[in-house]
Amino acid sequence: MLRVNEKLVLALPKGRILNEVMPVLRDVGIEPEAGFEDSDDRRLRFATNLPELDIIRIRSFDVATFVAFGGAHLGVCGNDVLLEFDYPEIYAPVDLGLGRCRLVVAEPEDMIGSDDPATWSSLRVATKYPTLTQAHFAGRGVQAECIKLNGAMELAPQLGLCRRIVDLVSTGNTLKANGLVEIEQIAAITSRLAVNRAAWKTRPDEIGHWITKFRGAVDGDAA
Ligand code: PRP
Repeated sequence: MLRVNEKLVLALPKGRILNEVMPVLRDVGIEPEAGFEDSDDRRLRFATNLPELDIIRIRSFDVATFVAFGGAHLGVCGNDVLLEFDYPEIYAPVDLGLGRCRLVVAEPEDMIGSDDPATWSSLRVATKYPTLTQAHFAGRGVQAECIKLNGAMELAPQLGLCRRIVDLVSTGNTLKANGLVEIEQIAAITSRLAVNRAAWKTRPDEIGHWITKFRGAVDGDAA
């Protein structure tokens, strides 16, 4: 699927995280064509100042899938997504330190005090991360039935889908605004540079160049 002379494709997540990614992109010398940062622009693929590199703007979960299947050679992806899919085709060598948040278990505040997580043997959870959630609970002998949602997990307890959720928390405002409280952390999350392993083997100089550049941007040298 990967052809040696084709343009390199870098997959970036749209939404909030893109604002954090842009300065890093500029640090490594990539300037997207006009329209890339305009969410009203319906194009998905953009040229850059570098003739050999294009950028695509997609959902964060899809960054991992495009990189794993070789549609994108490189991507920026949260380790929540990398852990959930655990694609063997992806190597994620650089922690970019962006999009810092945590994956947590939360429940309605009126359950706090009467609910002891140490006594759980099974539970139902609404989440975007069924694999991570099941693995987390299985690790301590708790069977988790996951209801897969793609967003607005915080509504699930008040509307009776379940009593607990597993979701990302950054400021904590969304949990608070919906009457929920964090009860345990599953993982600390940041975005990483993700690389397709086959692309790295077939185009080691170019991919290696970008790994060095992104690592340099994180470390603060002008690599
Ligand atoms: C994420 C997450 C929470 C919220 C947490 O959703 O799923 O809902 O951010 O952030 P906070 O702790 O700062 O309030 P996002 O806004 O990315 O949208 P999504 O529901 O479409 O994933």
